[in-house]
Amino acid sequence: MKVLVVFGGVSPEHEVSCLSAASVLSHIDRTRFDVTAMGITKDGRWLCTGASPEEIGSGAWADGPASEVTVSPSRSENGTGGFYIDGARYVPDAIFPVLHGENGEDGRIQGLFTMMGIPFVGCHTASAAVCMDKAFTKQVCETAGIPMADWLLVTGRQVRTEPEAAAARIEARFSYPVFVKPANTGSSVGVSKAADRAALRAALDCAAAYDSRILVEEFIDGRELEIAVLGNEEPEASGIGEILPSREFYSYEAKYLDGTSGLVFDPVLPEGRAEELTRIALKVFRILDCRGLSRVDFFLRKRDGAVIFNEINTIPGFTSISMYPKLFERAGIPYDELITRLIDLAVEAGGR
Ligand SMILES: Nc1ncnc2c1ncn2[C@@H]1O[C@H](COP(=O)(O)OP(=O)(O)O)[C@@H](O)[C@H]1O
Ligand SMILES: [Mg+2]
Repeated sequence: MKVLVVFGGVSPEHEVSCLSAASVLSHIDRTRFDVTAMGITKDGRWLCTGASPEEIGSGAWADGPASEVTVSPSRSENGTGGFYIDGARYVPDAIFPVLHGENGEDGRIQGLFTMMGIPFVGCHTASAAVCMDKAFTKQVCETAGIPMADWLLVTGRQVRTEPEAAAARIEARFSYPVFVKPANTGSSVGVSKAADRAALRAALDCAAAYDSRILVEEFIDGRELEIAVLGNEEPEASGIGEILPSREFYSYEAKYLDGTSGLVFDPVLPEGRAEELTRIALKVFRILDCRGLSRVDFFLRKRDGAVIFNEINTIPGFTSISMYPKLFERAGIPYDELITRLIDLAVEAGGR
């Protein structure tokens, strides 16, 4: 079975994607899969590379020998579009987009693969787009009564043209501290905690640099809990993982640079909370019409033990030591088998 692994991309999570892909490429079952690796450089060039997992993880692949890839959605042969590598047509049986963030996790590349008629791992276009946008996610989840932090949306235009009015509107609704985040980033890029008006103005400017839609949320003083979900029509949930951030919150630095944020598995929780988290995680996966995989993230509020849904990630961090694979490893699915399961689920869903 021919599998194309796609990684890199133009989003700020380029490096994280390369690390996830390096892990996938070192563990994927080569007895079952004939693997081709395609990297998207930071400036958006599509390159077929024979680089080693180490070179992919370090970013060195982008300067190594590679063939430029062109793509045609025209279903010219056997009902599918194709990739053209040095002019030769290549049609994988499945694609594994190990991409995070803009263009890779937000439905755009999923739309391209769908037009080509080639099965791919993970959520389809509409689902990926809604899950990537934290405001759309909340709007859908609100209609289903999913418990969430109170929030409001500010536009980049408001931040640029009437920042004082925007800040006043936020202060009328929330007391400090508040969280400010771009609607469409991941890995905590552009996310800040603001404790006063000056910090709020800076946080809004920072978020506005990444997106024209900005969320402001009440601060939830809680534990951070995550659940991995796997499957198509009958998804299954993993056990629960807890994040112990090394910094004030789970920022980009705490996630990737310190290496000291802790992951705890099957943490001790108040009576009944594990069941509630699992039930809500599966409900969120279903109402957002997810498929393949997603990681659903929560807070467990300290003051009253309330379960609060924070966000869903349709292509969660996927190195062998990332939360998503670790959770399923503990549930009895080793990393290499998890990759196989995801590819099988992609084929089961078909190129739609
Ligand atoms: N409302 C909130 N209250 C408290 N902490 C928050 C809140 N929103 C986000 N955070 C902190 O910021 C981190 C990143 O925010 P998140 O919404 O998960 O965005 P990302 O998609 O970048 O991971 C969270 O893991 C958490 O540590
Ligand atoms: Mg998060």
